[in-house]
Amino acid sequence: MPHLPINISDLRRDYSAAALSEDEIAPNPFVQFDQWLQQALQSELSEPTAMFVATATAQGAPSLRTVLLKEHGEAGFVFYTNYSSRKGRQIAENSQVALLFYWDVLERQIRIEGNAQRVSPLASDAYFDSRPHTSRLGAVASPQSQIIESRTELEKKISELSQQYPDGCHIERPSHWGGYVVRPQLFEFWQGRPSRLHDRLQYSLQPDGLWRIERLAP
Ligand SMILES: Cc1cc2nc3c(=O)[nH]c(=O)nc-3n(C[C@H](O)[C@H](O)[C@H](O)COP(=O)(O)O)c2cc1C
Repeated sequence: MPHLPINISDLRRDYSAAALSEDEIAPNPFVQFDQWLQQALQSELSEPTAMFVATATAQGAPSLRTVLLKEHGEAGFVFYTNYSSRKGRQIAENSQVALLFYWDVLERQIRIEGNAQRVSPLASDAYFDSRPHTSRLGAVASPQSQIIESRTELEKKISELSQQYPDGCHIERPSHWGGYVVRPQLFEFWQGRPSRLHDRLQYSLQPDGLWRIERLAP
């Protein structure tokens, strides 16, 4: 049956799953984040730990991609990647980044802004060693974000590496691969509400180290 074209300007969804008020929000944004993450982990979301990471050049030209959150807490939000990738090069020249979680089934969005730094080599080693063998081979083989000749070339490299490092064999973490920790200065928790009157509560880090909570207009 032929599909009728759908006019996207007519698509509208009313949000009514939950609300977010100053009375119920945790005074500490890391606690609030963990509460929402736990709910996301128990929901039907297929990738609840997927987050968008925005980086920018020194001149402020932005770029954005998805990564997986691997750790979170007062020390920050950790993801792992290739330090020579496009994002890695941008973080080297401008450490300001933004993170975004969009959890559609929960009608929630969380924005985080802060500074990214490399985690310690020891922490990167520990996480690298916990990854499946094939993922470790991939991290060694892939010059992430660089132009490559073909997929065949990449697969050839993987096959050579898997002969050099058979399953079960220790693979040293390449120095171009590791983690970043993002230390937030700003959080915004967004809960969809009916008729576009959404709840938006923002936490901003004050000079005394305390978090100020304010409501933003939807
Ligand atoms: C669901 C999902 C999870 C991803 N997780 C990661 C990750 O944890 N680390 C990573 O380097 N790339 C991850 N990627 C790939 C990135 O989106 C991106 O293609 C890659 O990091 C290169 O980005 P860059 O060229 O901007 O540096 C993921 C992609 C998707 C769709």
